[in-house]
Amino acid sequence: MSRKVLDVGCGIKKYPGSVGLDVNPRSNADVLADLDRFPYPFADQSFDEVRAIHVIEHVADVMQTMEEFHRLTRKGGTVFIVTPHYTDFSSFCDPTHRWHLNSFSFRYFGEDNAGYGYYSHVRFRENSVHVKLLNLWKVLGFEFLVNRSRTFRKFWEHYLCFIVRGKVIEWTLEVV
Ligand SMILES: C[S@@+](CC[C@H](N)C(=O)[O-])C[C@H]1O[C@@H](n2cnc3c(N)ncnc32)[C@H](O)[C@@H]1O
Repeated sequence: MSRKVLDVGCGIKKYPGSVGLDVNPRSNADVLADLDRFPYPFADQSFDEVRAIHVIEHVADVMQTMEEFHRLTRKGGTVFIVTPHYTDFSSFCDPTHRWHLNSFSFRYFGEDNAGYGYYSHVRFRENSVHVKLLNLWKVLGFEFLVNRSRTFRKFWEHYLCFIVRGKVIEWTLEVV
């Protein structure tokens, strides 16, 4: 049986075979809905995967949006998020961006929540986190190093990322 995929904020590049949701009637959405109005028009656990590509930075409430993604995805299903790293040019250039995240921004839904697990009642497991850097840094091997270990990624976020700037962060989060 084919996987049921919801592409939220699909714009004009809807993921092939998915149900597209967007607020903009000029998009390729199958469902016109506002991600800032809850609940979204789908039953619990309707999808195997929710994809949010360059969307989470636009919503009014990241925590509530993630909780809604969690509700819509079956247990063991995945939520795939892509957003600019906060040090990328695009993060602060686009005036419609409300949030500027780093590669640890979803830890609050997992075990490593620094004591802030009470921010949300839902849980995701970080199956993968991948950071893309600007091409120069990639060619010099920094992208490889940043993604090689969580420890080095943390070091990079703390000490290096204002020089060795990030571009995009991609998460595959499993619904627990
Ligand atoms: C930067 S575009 C990304 C489009 C597409 N995912 C892609 O990767 O090409 C952001 C999209 O999110 C949609 N969007 C922004 N805020 C939204 C909201 N509150 N509800 C629904 N869609 C929203 C916009 O209409 C737009 O299509």
